[in-house]
Amino acid sequence: MKPLIEVQNLAVSYYTYAGEVQSVRGVSFQISKGQTVAMVGESGCGKSVTAKSLMGLIEKPGKVKEGSRIFYEGQEISAYNETKWNGFRGKEISMIFQDALVSLNPTMCIGKQIKENLANHFPEIGNQEQDRRAVEMLQKAGIPDAVLCMRKYPHELSGGMRQRVMIAMAMITKPKMLIADEPTTSLDVTIQAQILELMQELQEETGMSILMITHDMGVVADIADEIIVMYAGKIVERGACRDIFYHPQHPYTWSLLNSVPRIDTGEDKKLVTIEGNIPDMTCPPKGCGFCERCPYAMNVCREYMPDAAKVSDGHEVWCWLTDKRADLSGIPFQIETDRTAKERKLVSENRAKEESEQKAVCREENR
Ligand SMILES: Nc1ncnc2c1ncn2[C@@H]1O[C@H](COP(=O)(O)OP(=O)(O)OP(=O)(O)O)[C@@H](O)[C@H]1O
Ligand SMILES: [Mg+2]
Repeated sequence: MKPLIEVQNLAVSYYTYAGEVQSVRGVSFQISKGQTVAMVGESGCGKSVTAKSLMGLIEKPGKVKEGSRIFYEGQEISAYNETKWNGFRGKEISMIFQDALVSLNPTMCIGKQIKENLANHFPEIGNQEQDRRAVEMLQKAGIPDAVLCMRKYPHELSGGMRQRVMIAMAMITKPKMLIADEPTTSLDVTIQAQILELMQELQEETGMSILMITHDMGVVADIADEIIVMYAGKIVERGACRDIFYHPQHPYTWSLLNSVPRIDTGEDKKLVTIEGNIPDMTCPPKGCGFCERCPYAMNVCREYMPDAAKVSDGHEVWCWLTDKRADLSGIPFQIETDRTAKERKLVSENRAKEESEQKAVCREENR
């Protein structure tokens, strides 16, 4: 099936007084129709810049570098001029941000803002119909008194309600894709869960794709079909949700998973933070971006970028540990690449067996 969006070799830099900040350094991925992709990675690794590129929102001193290509339904949108982007943004792809208070206009009532977004893309729709659709969308977004809400101003609503309004505003044009950039970070846990649920309900109804940006692996486990792990402007690992959670291959992914508090084990495990900082992106490392913080780094990691290694279908990792010459003693997870085809087949057979056994246990427990 043709992907809805295809990003090829995206590179974005900001040209500042301090030098060229290489925010995104050659990222390629695809998102299919109806799929939910989560992009994870700690602060500053280039998640928002990647998302903004898909919306044509990179502004000076930022620049999408030559050789970067973005296709939407087969059309190259990275070649769009501002007029074309204006027609595209908010119609084909909508984006919601972390803090709804700064994204909403404080001087305009909610109804007017939602209707304005609709009218921008569908000027033929009359005022009454705009009202009807806005109220209907607010109801769908779980706003209890939608008619009253239309007349309210952003500051009169709670954080959770504002985020619902943002979702209604993003969805009123029936976009084929929703980009959610940390949409729940500023909300408390129960409200977070409600907002995620709402997005999933709307997705089921409309068949839209979702690109969810977060540094919360817990959120990811709940909703993602596929996970893209980013570090220092590059993808370091990607795969289906179960691949990343059950068979992670990159040391950075391991540390992200370690930083998720676990309630299921009943252990009082402290939240593990990853020691060190992300590299200075004005002079990123020659080799793997994570090498300075990686407990398993070898000399080669500092000098050369690893190539992609295929772990299984749709699961790829960029790490020198997958090279057959790497010393794997003391590695806490099983590295699965660069084996002989026979071994690999065995691994995947065992894995399938394991999974079917797990499923059987679950079914038994649910009885
Ligand atoms: N307008 C800008 N001017 C200069 N540098 C920028 C600008 N916007 C982003 N950057 C830089 O680009 C890099 C990636 O930023 P980005 O906002 O994509 O990070 P992020 O992964 O979204 O982080 P967070 O989780 O904190 O939102 C950072 O080093 C950041 O400082
Ligand atoms: Mg961000």
